[in-house]
Amino acid sequence: MKKEYALKMDDNDQLSYLKKEFLYGDGNDSKKIYFCGNSLGLQHYSLKNKINKHLEQWKDLAVENHFSGDYPWMDIQDKIKEKLKLFLGCSENEIAIMNSLTVNLHLMMVSFYKPSKTRNKILIEENAFSSDRYVVNSQLKYHGLDESSLITVSPEKDHLIDEDKIISKINSNKETLSLVLIPGIQYYSGQVINISKISKVCRDNDIILGLDLAHMVGNVDIDLNSHDVDFATWCSYKYLNSGPGGVSGIYVNSKHIKDDIIRFEGWWGNKLSSRFEMLKKYDPEYSAEGWVLSNPPVILLDMHLASLEVFINAGLNNVFKKSKLLSDFLYKGLSSINNYNKFFDIITPKESKSRGSQISLFFKKSSEEFFSKISKKFVVDYRKPNVVRVAPVPLYNSFYEVYLFVSEIDRIIKSYD
Ligand SMILES: Cc1ncc(COP(=O)(O)O)c(C=O)c1O
Repeated sequence: MKKEYALKMDDNDQLSYLKKEFLYGDGNDSKKIYFCGNSLGLQHYSLKNKINKHLEQWKDLAVENHFSGDYPWMDIQDKIKEKLKLFLGCSENEIAIMNSLTVNLHLMMVSFYKPSKTRNKILIEENAFSSDRYVVNSQLKYHGLDESSLITVSPEKDHLIDEDKIISKINSNKETLSLVLIPGIQYYSGQVINISKISKVCRDNDIILGLDLAHMVGNVDIDLNSHDVDFATWCSYKYLNSGPGGVSGIYVNSKHIKDDIIRFEGWWGNKLSSRFEMLKKYDPEYSAEGWVLSNPPVILLDMHLASLEVFINAGLNNVFKKSKLLSDFLYKGLSSINNYNKFFDIITPKESKSRGSQISLFFKKSSEEFFSKISKKFVVDYRKPNVVRVAPVPLYNSFYEVYLFVSEIDRIIKSYD
């Protein structure tokens, strides 16, 4: 792997100016190189002022700042949706910013999982993220059902999901299947799932399709309009850099935004025009905002907005284009290390369009020891049983950092000789 190539790529990188805008590790003597934006994105320097501004507004105007002042809190939700629709490929009225991912999955299941005696099964991946599985299992219990109503799809020997297997399970269970919940990008392997393919068979059989976009939003381009799924939710603290525990959102396909939809209701989903009239009857916004329950946390909303602005100013296409180049460089570098596969397999798909920024290394031996060696210089994450996930993020990682990572892995492997 050529250091000169990495340096040349950095020289030609029109987004390289952004690195210094993201704060990380300056107060830390043993500063490492950060490749963990798939778990928690870094802090943009503008956020501190944003937060301070809200503290000032709260101090100066208190409750009046909801609607007045030079930056009324009520406007933030719309400003976010205006930007986020570009990340999701849908319209503003299909998005609401609220809660966190797991809470939103539950709220979506309330509206979209309608089990009957004959049609009550849910299909998920066998290795779904723990919280998604807990949501599904507890929803089954809530409806008086149990795990016998779960249909799961296991990954293949290469750790990847075979979409054709999902499709054949849907087809063979179409009489009893009520809902399919899949990720946009699988958190463990980093595989992009072919959503349109699965959506088509769900549509043909009148089965609800929901998406967990935790690892997809802000990582690769998404076009929800073309996929025709029923609902989706995500988190904003990974690739979207909106802060630990940052606010999530929902997408509800506009075909479901109608009067007879059942959902849990709260005053903040009521039309703004009558929200404060304290009416007895719920009169919802005619949009995904009908699912919003509570007065939202404005500081979290504004941190989210500021983070989205960084992407928009840089140009979403530029960000995603650099991401592909970085992860290609990482993939090629790792796979060119002598004897790497004595220690690990790269389980993320080789084909660039089938992955985002994350590359997952599946260790065959010495996984914890290897991870602790890597962790002396790099922040990556370890997912049990034995996967190390590495995510070079286009907004704040460089090609040179990827070069250093690959060189370090090479050095560690040689040290075992
Ligand atoms: C794929 C996936 N689903 C669900 C969650 C849970 O997210 P939250 O804690 O924001 O509800 C995560 C968190 O990392 C995740 O990666």
